Amino acid sequence: MKIAFAEPSPPKTGSLVVGVLDDRRLTASAQQVDQQTGGMLTRAMAASKFKGRSDDVLNILAPSGLDLGRIILIGLGKAAALDATAWQNAGGKIVAQLNGVGETAAQVEIDQIDGAKIPAADAAAELAYGARLRSYRFDKYRTKEKPERKPTLKALTIAVDAAGDAKRKFAPLDQVADAVFFTRDIVSEPANVIYPETLADRARELEEFGVEIDVLGRKEMRKLGMGALLGVGQGSDHPPRLLVMQWKGAPDAKDQRPLAFVGKGVTFDTGGISIKPAGGMEDMKWDMAGAGVVIGLMRALAGRKAKVNAVGIGGLVENMPSGTAQRPGDIVTSMSGQTIEVLNTDAEGRLVLADALWYCQDRFKPRFMIDLATLTGAIIIALGSEYAGMYANDDKLAKQLVAAGEAVGEKLWRMPLHDNYDRMMDSDAADIKNISGGRDAGSITAAQFLKRFTNGLPWAHLDIAGTTWSKKDTATVPKGATSFGVRLLNKLIEDNYEE
Ligand code: BES
Ligand code: MN
Ligand code: ZN
Repeated sequence: MKIAFAEPSPPKTGSLVVGVLDDRRLTASAQQVDQQTGGMLTRAMAASKFKGRSDDVLNILAPSGLDLGRIILIGLGKAAALDATAWQNAGGKIVAQLNGVGETAAQVEIDQIDGAKIPAADAAAELAYGARLRSYRFDKYRTKEKPERKPTLKALTIAVDAAGDAKRKFAPLDQVADAVFFTRDIVSEPANVIYPETLADRARELEEFGVEIDVLGRKEMRKLGMGALLGVGQGSDHPPRLLVMQWKGAPDAKDQRPLAFVGKGVTFDTGGISIKPAGGMEDMKWDMAGAGVVIGLMRALAGRKAKVNAVGIGGLVENMPSGTAQRPGDIVTSMSGQTIEVLNTDAEGRLVLADALWYCQDRFKPRFMIDLATLTGAIIIALGSEYAGMYANDDKLAKQLVAAGEAVGEKLWRMPLHDNYDRMMDSDAADIKNISGGRDAGSITAAQFLKRFTNGLPWAHLDIAGTTWSKKDTATVPKGATSFGVRLLNKLIEDNYEE
C-alpha cells in the first residue's frame, strides 16, 4: 500500500473518506460533500445508526453528483479526544474498511477541527501512520491464496492543507512503522527459518542504517564465562549467539553513556528436558520476541536518526531436548560468578537473560537497562493480553515507561519486587535456583531472579508473554505478532532522552 499526501482537490475515482464528529457533526469537508450530493450524507446518517462515534463507519455507494464509487463516513468521536492515538486508530480502521469492501484506491480528507488536541498536519501524519501499521500482513508462505481474499487497497491519498508539512511529520513515523514491520516479520517466521544464526543475520541488515553489530559465538561466550546462556543452548544443533547492536546518535555535548535494551531471544522453546505439552507448543516460535523488539527498536532509532546512544543485546538460543541437553538439577556458573541450580529446563529465559544482563552492564555501564522477555505464563494469568507486566528498581524509570506506554497504547502495569519474593529463589545447592518450586507469584519470582544479575543498575523488566502475539485485530495491530515494545521504547527515548 502506497501512502501519499496532497493538497485538497476532489478525487475522480475510488473512495472518498470524510470525518464526522460525535452527534453527527460534519467536518468541513464532509459538509462540502454533503452539499455536492444534495444532502446524501445527512440522509444516509439519518437512515442508519451512524452517530459519528469513534467506532462508527458508514458506506455510501455510488453517490449522485460525483464520479466516485463510494463515500465512507468515518466516526471521529469527540473533538476534545482527538489525540495522536485517535487519529492513528482512525487510519487503521479506514484501511480495514477499504480492504473489507475490496477498494483499490482512496482519498481521506483531513480538516482542521476546533478543539482537537493536534493540528491538521499532525493529524494527517498520525492517520497515515495508523493506516500503515494496520496494513501489515505476514503472507509470504501463502502461495495459493485466492486474489479476492488478499488486501485490495493499493493507494491511499491523504488530502490536507500544508501537505508538505504533513509529509515531513510522517517521515519519522514511517521509520518507526518500518521498524515495527521488521519486528513483526522476524517474530512471525517459524523456527526452522529463524534460529540464532539466522536471527543474527537478520539483525546485520541494520548495518545499512548505521547500527554497529557484533555477534558472539560459543567460543567467545565460553571465554566470558556465560555458563547460564550456554547451558540453555547446549541441546540444540543450532549454536547460540549473543547479538550486540550499538546506535551512536548522541551529539558530542550530551551524556554519552548509552541506554541499554536486552531481549530474550529463544528462537524455539520446547521446554528442553522439562518438555512442554504438545498443545500450543507452536507458539514458542515467538519466544524470541524480546530480542525481536530490541532489534526493531534499534532499527527505529537508526531510521529516524535519534539523538541518543543506545545498545541492544539479544540472547539468542534454541531450547531443545537431546542427548547433549541440560538436565534438571544441573548447576551452571553464570558470567556474574553466581551459580544457578537449574531445576526446570523450561525456565530458560531467565538463564539466558542472566548472562545477557550481566554482560550488558559489565561492558557498557549504561544509564539504565530495560529487558523484554516472553518470560512467564504466569503474567498471562495475571494481566491477560491488555497490559504487559513491568518490574523496576527505579521509580523514575518506571513512571517514564508507564507514561510512554499510555501514549502509544502499549500499556504497562507495574508489579512488585520484594526481598521476601527474592528469598523464594534461594537454592540449597547453589547461589540461586531457576524456579521457586511452587506456582505462586510466578512472574514476580522470575523478575526477582533477573534482578540478581543487574548489579544494582537502574533496571526495568517487561514480561511481554501476554502482549507479544494477538489473537484478534485491533485498530492498528492486525492479529499475529504485535511488536509490543518497539513503539513504547521509541516513545520513552523520544520523550525523555533526546533533546
Ligand atoms: N516462554 C515461556 C513462557 C511463555 C508461556 C511465553 C506461554 C508465552 C506463552 C517460558 O520459557 C516458560 O516456559 N516459563 C515457564 C516457567 C516455569 C517453568 C517456572 C512457565 O511460565 O510455565
Ligand atoms: Mn520455557
Ligand atoms: Zn521461554
